[in-house]
Amino acid sequence: MQIPITRPYITDREYELVRESLQSGWLVQGPRVKEFEQRMAAFTGARYAVALNSCTSGQMIMSEIIALQPGDQVILPAFTWISTANAVEYKGARPVFCDIDLATFNLDPEDMEKRIGPATRALYPVSLFGLTADMPAVMEIARRYNLRVVEDVACGLGASLNGTHAGLFGQAGVLSFHPRKSITTGEGGMIITNDPEVQQQAMSLREHGADKSDHQRHTSGKPHQMSNYTRPGFNMRMTDLQAAVGVAQYEKLNEILQTKNEMAAQYRDQLADLSWLQLPDIPPGHQHGFQTYCTLFKPHETYQAIEHRDARKLETLHQQRNQVMERLASQGIITRPGTHAVPIQKHYQNKYGYQKMDFPRAYAADRLTIALPFYPTMRPEEKQYLFDQIRKLNL
Ligand SMILES: Cc1ncc(COP(=O)(O)O)c(C=O)c1O
Repeated sequence: MQIPITRPYITDREYELVRESLQSGWLVQGPRVKEFEQRMAAFTGARYAVALNSCTSGQMIMSEIIALQPGDQVILPAFTWISTANAVEYKGARPVFCDIDLATFNLDPEDMEKRIGPATRALYPVSLFGLTADMPAVMEIARRYNLRVVEDVACGLGASLNGTHAGLFGQAGVLSFHPRKSITTGEGGMIITNDPEVQQQAMSLREHGADKSDHQRHTSGKPHQMSNYTRPGFNMRMTDLQAAVGVAQYEKLNEILQTKNEMAAQYRDQLADLSWLQLPDIPPGHQHGFQTYCTLFKPHETYQAIEHRDARKLETLHQQRNQVMERLASQGIITRPGTHAVPIQKHYQNKYGYQKMDFPRAYAADRLTIALPFYPTMRPEEKQYLFDQIRKLNL
């Protein structure tokens, strides 16, 4: 049996809506993008949603909007996708990392606060794998130190805490629609915000800095009308073809999230007694989006190694984890590490001199997470095969 890490959930509806877009003759950002934005704003409870060609683009746009300057510092978790840091780095500002909580893989607010200094301008919290970060704590820190907050909610669709959707605690949140996410447009992203100023600026920046969109010009009845360009911007637009896929995917979103939550309960049922595997939890007050089902290998030994700052032990466990992943792959089951520790990626290590154990929990997560295959179209026999093969490892 072959079980990939994910499989996009595509039905006839995606083909139908893409065909309609193709037949309409309007392929670039247009009415479908607007519709997708409206649906996503309604779903998340955001006043505004601005669609883009990726989440990374949204993160860069937000760094423009909050006007990061060289010399500024932004604090973000050390265990995240590289773009959270790159969005700071490309402005000439400095990403300052904080460690995470290994129970949730999200940032540790206490450690985040310790990293604040006179140059700190903003916090970029990340809601990883479908679980909202501790945003009440982050917002309290931001309020006390007067900092801007941009949320990386690439993985956060369907995640909420005490009724607020991830991405709507700070000034804005940025979603991703990469195929590993709960719904996909191939590539794609979206800024969600309650701030009209962010919406206006993001709409302009995605469109070269224009004061109106292509679609507005073409439908204005004034063929002579041109945009005016108020600041240098980018082309970071989502196409209507992508948004057609997005709308079709959106129609399945509630079903996808419900299925994923049911699957998570089933995985827990089947695997909770394996002491060598830490499974994801749903802390009180949280609605989990379960973008990824991320586990931690040999949690007891891992926590002990961290306590003793024992990098050698973490390396040994890492080798064992890799063997487990290879054994599963040899049975047709594809797993992946959760994500990576950014400070030890070459650019950041070389430029800022970070060492592996500067952020021991993020480093452990980098070395020891295992994301299991987890997608709504998994058939019962595929899930059973996965459980059987994991149990057969006999660790
Ligand atoms: C936490 C996180 N942030 C940002 C991104 C970037 O998203 P995109 O690929 O849409 O640019 C990802 C994508 O995997 C992610 O997981």
